[in-house]
Amino acid sequence: MAPASGVELVTSQTAVSPPSAPAQSNTMLAVDTGAMPASLLAKSLSSQLPSLMSGVATPPINVDPSPSPCTAPLLELFQTINSAMEEEIARGFTINAHQPPESAARLDAAVRAAVAAYVEQGHSDWRQLAAFNEQHYVRHLVDECDSFEMILICWGKGQQSRVHNHANSHCWLNVLSGGVEELRYSSGTSPVELQPAVAPRLPGVIAATTPCPLLVLTGVTPVGPGGTAYINDSMGLHAVRCADDACPPGEPGCVSLHIYAPPIRRVKLYEPEDNRVTTRTPGFNTIRGIDEEHWQLASHLSASL
Ligand SMILES: [Fe+2]
Repeated sequence: MAPASGVELVTSQTAVSPPSAPAQSNTMLAVDTGAMPASLLAKSLSSQLPSLMSGVATPPINVDPSPSPCTAPLLELFQTINSAMEEEIARGFTINAHQPPESAARLDAAVRAAVAAYVEQGHSDWRQLAAFNEQHYVRHLVDECDSFEMILICWGKGQQSRVHNHANSHCWLNVLSGGVEELRYSSGTSPVELQPAVAPRLPGVIAATTPCPLLVLTGVTPVGPGGTAYINDSMGLHAVRCADDACPPGEPGCVSLHIYAPPIRRVKLYEPEDNRVTTRTPGFNTIRGIDEEHWQLASHLSASL
C-alpha cells in the first residue's frame, strides 16, 4: 500500500509549496501558535462544524467570539489529561519520553483511564471535528498546551502514514471508530555519513538527508475501537494505516485520537523508496475547529499536501 501523500502536515511559520491542483474538499490550516480560547473550541464543537464524517466540502465558518461555557466532553478529556500532566510536573518531573519510569507509568495509566472513560461513556462530540479527505489522512488539532497536544486523525480506506519517529515524546494512539493497524519498525544506523538530499516539495519540510537507514518491520498490531497503542522512540519507529475491513458501514474511514506529550514540533519521516529521511514540522488540517480566517489559507494549502 502506498503511503498517503498528506502525512505530517505543517505550520503557518513555514514555507509552503504553491498548489499544483485544485483545492481538495478538506482544509489544511496553518498552525497558529496563538492559542484560541477553549471557549471557542467549545463553541465549534457544539455548533459550528457541520460536515461530520462526510468527506465533502466544509463551508467557511464564522466563529462566534463570544464566551461560551466549556462543556464538550472532548475538552473535558483534554482537561483531565492535562491535570495528570500537571500532577507529574508538580512532582518535579518533565513530561517527555525520558521521564522516570514511575512517573511515566502513572501518566500512562491516567491517560489510558481518561480515554477509556470517554469511550465507555459513548461520547460522540468528536464527530463534530471529524472530516475525511480522499487524497490523504486528515489531522485535526483538538487542543494543545505546553505539555501535550490532542489530535483527531481521520483515516480513509487505503490511507496510511509514512514511517516516522516521535521526537522524544510520548505517543498514545486511541481508536474511536473502526480500527487502525500499527506497523512497528526497528532501524539501523547508516553505515555512511549522511548527505543532504533533495527534499520533497511538501509544506513544513525543514531538511532531508540520505541514505535512509534500513527499516525492519517487527510487527503489525491491530487496534480496535476503544483500544490504545503506545510508542516512544526507545521502542522503535512506526507507521499507521487504516484497517479497511474495520471501517464502520456507511462511514468513509476510521478515526483515532492521538496524545503527544510534549507536542511534536519536528518529526523525521523515513522514506526508503526515495532513500532519504525528511525532517518536517507537523501541521494540521483544522485547528480547534475551523474559522473563516484559516479557511482561505487552507484552500491554498490543501492542494500541496
Ligand atoms: Fe506516530
